[in-house]
Amino acid sequence: MNVKQVKPVGITDTILRDAHQSLLATRMRTEDMLPVAEKLDGMGFHSLEVWGGATFDTTYRFLDEDPWERLRTLKKHIKKTPLQMLLRGQNVVGYRHYADDVVEAFVTKAYENGMDIFRIFDALNDVRNMETAMRVTKRVGGHVQATICYTISPLHTNDGFVAMARQLAEMGADSICIKDMAGLLAPYDAYDLVSKMKAEIDLPIQLHSHYTSGMASVSYLKAIEAGVDVVDTAISTLSLGTSQPPTEALVAALRGTPRDPGLDLGQLSEVAKYFAGVRKRYRAFEGELMGVDTDVLTYQVPGGMISNLVSQLREQNALDRLAEVLQEVPRVRADLGYPPLVTPSSQFVGTQAVINVVVGERYKVVPKEIRAYVKGMYGRPPGSIDPEAREKILGSEESIDCRPADLLEPELEKAAAELDGLARAQEDVISYALFPQVVKEYLERQSVCGENQREREIVAAIAAVLAQQTNGKQVSPASGATRTRGITAWRLASRGQTMRGSGWR
Ligand code: CO
Repeated sequence: MNVKQVKPVGITDTILRDAHQSLLATRMRTEDMLPVAEKLDGMGFHSLEVWGGATFDTTYRFLDEDPWERLRTLKKHIKKTPLQMLLRGQNVVGYRHYADDVVEAFVTKAYENGMDIFRIFDALNDVRNMETAMRVTKRVGGHVQATICYTISPLHTNDGFVAMARQLAEMGADSICIKDMAGLLAPYDAYDLVSKMKAEIDLPIQLHSHYTSGMASVSYLKAIEAGVDVVDTAISTLSLGTSQPPTEALVAALRGTPRDPGLDLGQLSEVAKYFAGVRKRYRAFEGELMGVDTDVLTYQVPGGMISNLVSQLREQNALDRLAEVLQEVPRVRADLGYPPLVTPSSQFVGTQAVINVVVGERYKVVPKEIRAYVKGMYGRPPGSIDPEAREKILGSEESIDCRPADLLEPELEKAAAELDGLARAQEDVISYALFPQVVKEYLERQSVCGENQREREIVAAIAAVLAQQTNGKQVSPASGATRTRGITAWRLASRGQTMRGSGWR
């Protein structure tokens, strides 16, 4: 093996965050994580990605769980391995820009509740949108993993990405992540990019890719040869498709080489079997892509985007215009200054392309998000906006040149006032500032539970009896029979109750 590094490559497993976000619509419950949490902790991973991204709002929205509670619980079970999260810079874990006081409080509380490594990115690679999150993470004692969103366009070059990494290093990054969210990074580009970064920047480099295009495992191997320090993989039973490359395959591929990560394949296999059982129960949330998305290879647009275009066209009864839309997508992206195609810019570009084709005149109709984008409200795009498109979209309206969050008033005090006694802790106020309606509804359900003390005790007693029937063994979600009982108890619990403290968690 021709390698530039001799130290073992570190592995971050994403099974508890990106893997189920990518494959199971972010639906994995904390109770399905805990039975293997200690085992994962003992395996020797560089870190475990367990929090952030879309997991934060989905736990409230769909699982009736508190994400802060999940973090504390995981930290109790995972004591040795650093916990890692994905943080969208000034967007925190949401979909708009928040004021600095929200970012600051979120990072501080995330650290206090057990987070170790903060992977911080901005969808436009505008480092001004990462400043506050990076500064506060550093101040509270967390690890700042500053992130570059990888994309392909006439403006994006490996030298440009290296320059951005240098800038992030100057801003205080502890490590750099190359985030290839669409699986576009080809193996020889990976080799070139990592080689250049390692030569110029004296920080650990971590690579995050998705299997969407089918290239991620080979790209990892070339990145490892070029000296990348850490890569992100997922336990096999929740890998491939739009998720990460399989952990076990990479471990086996590197066995006996200077970069052997030293993980035990037998132990990994046990964990894989466990998650095979977990995955079955979330079958209803499985995405469509299991293999390789050839559209990513052809059009360089991420998985999911083309199926969105198809459903938008179907709604307009214009499915026969797909070929025109696929030609319009790169034109709109060019007009908008070549944003990386990641949430939310992929939606902007796709929707505008559909509108342009269906309406029959470019930028005659423009959604308000795209107007805001062109105005600079999401930050500075990588390239300049096409003047003609700008004129049609904004007219004579001025765009802003400052960091978007500079225009935002503090939000926390107002959030606390609006919650009016519902907040149990500062964490609730932060969550409410991020997702007002979802979190208020969640907290209202919680406060109802609190009043029905008697009903709560009944549920706890039933759960305790059921637990005894399993011979005092820890409830194993992998076992069908036990699981049925578990679900029954959970259903009881979900009628206005929680199972906290009932022996089932
Ligand atoms: Co990802």
